[in-house]
Amino acid sequence: MTRRTVRIAMNGVTGRMGYRQHLLRSVLAIREQGGVDLGGGEVLWPEPVLVGRRDHALKEIAERHGLTEWSTDLDAVLADDTIDVYFDAQVTSARVEALKKAIDAGKHIYTEKPTATDLEGALQLARLARTAGIKHGVVQDKIFLPGLLKLKRLIDGGFFGEILSVRGEFGYWVFEGDWQDAQRPSWNYRSEDGGGIAVDMFPHWEYVLHELFGRVLSVQAHITTHIPRRWDEQGKPYAATADDAAYGIFELDGGAVAQINSSWAVRVNRDELVEFQVDGVHGSAVAGLRNCRVQHRSATPKPVWNPDLPVTESFRDQWQEVPDNTEFDNGFKAQWELFLRHVVLDEPYQWDLLAGARGVQLAELGLRSSAEGRRFDVPELTL
Ligand SMILES: NC(=O)c1ccc[n+]([C@@H]2O[C@H](COP(=O)([O-])OP(=O)(O)OC[C@H]3O[C@@H](n4cnc5c(N)ncnc54)[C@H](O)[C@@H]3O)[C@@H](O)[C@H]2O)c1
Repeated sequence: MTRRTVRIAMNGVTGRMGYRQHLLRSVLAIREQGGVDLGGGEVLWPEPVLVGRRDHALKEIAERHGLTEWSTDLDAVLADDTIDVYFDAQVTSARVEALKKAIDAGKHIYTEKPTATDLEGALQLARLARTAGIKHGVVQDKIFLPGLLKLKRLIDGGFFGEILSVRGEFGYWVFEGDWQDAQRPSWNYRSEDGGGIAVDMFPHWEYVLHELFGRVLSVQAHITTHIPRRWDEQGKPYAATADDAAYGIFELDGGAVAQINSSWAVRVNRDELVEFQVDGVHGSAVAGLRNCRVQHRSATPKPVWNPDLPVTESFRDQWQEVPDNTEFDNGFKAQWELFLRHVVLDEPYQWDLLAGARGVQLAELGLRSSAEGRRFDVPELTL
């Protein structure tokens, strides 16, 4: 096997996503499996160069994983002609500037979402990338999750008949940070730092809805901050200026309606941290990150509304588990592999900066909808 090395500057690898999902579970996991098989006796070999602000933190991560290259000088890394790809998992507010520099330096781009905090910024990135002729990709990990892959299988197999509605529940209780540490970074709760659940989660809902059911045609949202005061990583109280709950209704091309609740102020009484119930004329499904259950119309019971009688049946037990029937890889890794193949083999890749901009657009329109108490059409984006 001959190795075709792709050198990737990875910025933000000290963070939650950058370290665990992208470095550990994707790039290093690809190396552990021997690279990406390109066929013809060739393997793609990703070579990460860690980039960040704190030398000692980068050095510690590099040494822990037997890596030899790291830098706190992004400009110098981007000026290095041997670097092929720039990857960004920094805080959202630092993203646009870094991506612009990388595009300017002629690097291919792979980035976490949201690509920017406003639509104008997101579109500008997509235009710059097109003009520069580079390859670009945006993380859209949820569609690569086993539960949603099973849902896609059901849709492709015609299980639902006409799809009527999608109900999404996402969220969990994020501790305020006073009597127990918060399990998310404090910048998530400050809008001036790019925080907020709508900016974070609506980009995910855009591509999930778009890819599985149809383009989002309109949005109506109620977005709020339930917990106004939180405590940061140093135990200092701060005002939560960003939203922590977003209740959205989305009309979809094809006629279905989706309603998705996203909240960091909800306690979990579900099987998974996100679940989507899809109701179709011929059957229904509930898909989470891993699992998916179905109820076909032929096996649908006939509940009768009578509040005077206790419930005698267990509704949850009337659903059937969809089997794996295959091995599912980590979703982030699966998308990395497709992107790297796109870079070296020019294979098609649809999750680009324009797709990323659609997510930012939905978040922006959702926030406007909530602020103005109106429903907004979602215009189709072009460059
Ligand atoms: N795809 C997903 O499911 C998913 C999930 C969570 C977060 N994200 C996205 O990933 C990105 C990172 O989120 P995270 O939860 O890993 O955040 P995090 O706070 O854990 O990590 C942020 C990283 O950015 C770096 N950074 C650069 N400039 C900074 C600055 N000025 N202030 C603070 N940190 C700075 C930090 O050192 C760190 O490496 C965000 O854009 C977020 O929207 C995506």
